[in-house]
Amino acid sequence: MNKITFTLNGQRKTALLESPDTTVLQYLRASGWVGTKEGCAEGDCGACTVALMVQNEAGKAEYQAVNSCLMPLGALAGQEMITVEGVSPDADVHDVTSLHPVQQMMVETGGSQCGYCTPGFIMSMFAAYYRNGGGDASDRDVEGNLCRCTGYLPIRKALAELDAPTADDPFVHKLEQPSLTSQPTFSPTDTGFVYPTTLAEVFEVLEAQPDAVLIAGATDLGVDMNDGRLSAQTLISLEHVTELKALEVSEDAVTIGAGVTLSQLEHLHLFPALSTMISWFASRQIRNRATIGGNIATASPIGDLPPVLLAYDAIITIASKDGTRELALSDFFQGYRQTALEPGDIINQVRIPRQKIPKKKTANASTRLSQSYKVGKRGTDDISIVA
Ligand code: FES
Ligand code: FES
Repeated sequence: MNKITFTLNGQRKTALLESPDTTVLQYLRASGWVGTKEGCAEGDCGACTVALMVQNEAGKAEYQAVNSCLMPLGALAGQEMITVEGVSPDADVHDVTSLHPVQQMMVETGGSQCGYCTPGFIMSMFAAYYRNGGGDASDRDVEGNLCRCTGYLPIRKALAELDAPTADDPFVHKLEQPSLTSQPTFSPTDTGFVYPTTLAEVFEVLEAQPDAVLIAGATDLGVDMNDGRLSAQTLISLEHVTELKALEVSEDAVTIGAGVTLSQLEHLHLFPALSTMISWFASRQIRNRATIGGNIATASPIGDLPPVLLAYDAIITIASKDGTRELALSDFFQGYRQTALEPGDIINQVRIPRQKIPKKKTANASTRLSQSYKVGKRGTDDISIVA
């Protein structure tokens, strides 16, 4: 049984992983941190939103909103998390007398009635409040939060009227001096959660424990966990495998590590149809955790990225202990939730060829146009009926 350590609202915590399918939300509520709510347990309502301090692609610390209902507790190892109990500027989270500016604004605009959704909204807004020094929070930051009674107008007003944080804001200081979180240790025979840092270590675990399940952002697997459909004894966390995080842009192609998150991909503006689809992909909380490799590997018929990647003739690299092989994405999907992955295989990279625009128009020069569309019942935070 693993023991993990992490930081929760500024306090160092240790937790025993009694089962790999315990979620962060279940842990929080069982430990008395009941400000964080459960609505759907599927990533659809945002009531469970918490903030993680992560390093962005520029190497700077930032707060990201995530769904705690979909995050396995094991994935919290070495991370720093803030819940609604921890946003007050008061140092003692158990004796809070002052509100965070985001909470204050929600009070002033009347953005809360029954209050059930409010902690989730507060945490999404909290993460947005500090992004890029503040001042650019928008409706898109709460697209993964549902409210059943207030009506969105006062909530949107609260968002729109937020100022940028002041220089003496304690959370600004935290971002400037992030606490050093310790990487979890690796052992290929550990059960529960295993934390490899290289692909070679991933293959070591897969050899020692062939039934172990690979896990990245867990935004799909997390739903199975909540439904009691995950029977694996061991989950192999891919979050610390640096080879899976690389993103390389060359003249001919863009090569994206399978562990690159969709939020990171939002900054890649080379494929307009991909950018359009990512902007409609689930919600901010999901995009902060979901990875491109995960969205392909789950082979879900409602996955939003595969239709676009297929149109772009994407090629995937599959790695195993015997080496790597390339496969056109069109040959990867073999049926409902069935792929060309063999036991011991892992998606390593996704390569999207870049179209060369001919300098001169000639009779046989063709220009390819790509456009993506998503039809769903809601504009955001929904699955595709058609992509
Ligand atoms: Fe609804 Fe987590 S409980 S998104
Ligand atoms: Fe009641 Fe939002 S205030 S659900």
